[in-house]
Amino acid sequence: MPIYALGDLEPDIHPDAYVHPDATVIGDVRIGPHASVWPQTVLRGDNGYIELGARSNIQDGCVVHCTRADPTVLGPGSAIGHAVHVEGARIGSNCLIASGSVVLNGSVIEDGGMVGAGAVLSYNGHVPPGHIALGVPAKIRENTSFGAEQITRVVESYVGRAARFKKELRRLD
Ligand SMILES: CC(C)(COP(=O)(O)OP(=O)(O)OC[C@H]1O[C@@H](n2cnc3c(N)ncnc32)[C@H](O)[C@@H]1OP(=O)(O)O)[C@@H](O)C(=O)NCCC(=O)NCCS
Repeated sequence: MPIYALGDLEPDIHPDAYVHPDATVIGDVRIGPHASVWPQTVLRGDNGYIELGARSNIQDGCVVHCTRADPTVLGPGSAIGHAVHVEGARIGSNCLIASGSVVLNGSVIEDGGMVGAGAVLSYNGHVPPGHIALGVPAKIRENTSFGAEQITRVVESYVGRAARFKKELRRLD
């Protein structure tokens, strides 16, 4: 599993977290219990830090970076879908950052906020609780499309998947 220290900066991965062997984790990255990181995702904590709260997940093919001014913080209990780029944003609990979206520096997604598939939330974007960012550039509206229970279901399904992968994943080549 490519997990790298950078000088004194070392990832801190809870023993109950799951990091897929094909994810890359570098430097000041903190991963909480029952959180999960999926294949081809890169978490690069070389300038500022990245924190993944308990039970949160970052799905396949994501790029997560940060700056000293804007660390990237996710969760607890939130999900980042497939192929998402997050660059220095604070994302609360029970949030979903959906597939293929981009969330730029200084953005804040409050608890229960969502970013829709393919949206670009530009610098210092703000999504209040129960709202969603949609489109390019993203516009914020009340979230009547994807409820809090649906977000919880995504989060919990990944807690379960991570437990299964920890036990059952076998490399065959
Ligand atoms: C946001 C999302 C929930 C919308 O789903 P939907 O079923 O199309 O929702 P609605 O039918 O309620 O659409 C609401 C409005 O948003 C628009 N819209 C929907 N998805 C959009 C998107 N990704 N970008 C921009 N606009 C979008 C619709 O055209 C509609 O516009 P209108 O009210 O002006 O007619 C969906 O695009 C999404 O992001 N799903 C999450 C996928 C994901 O990442 N899952 C987790 C991986 S496990």
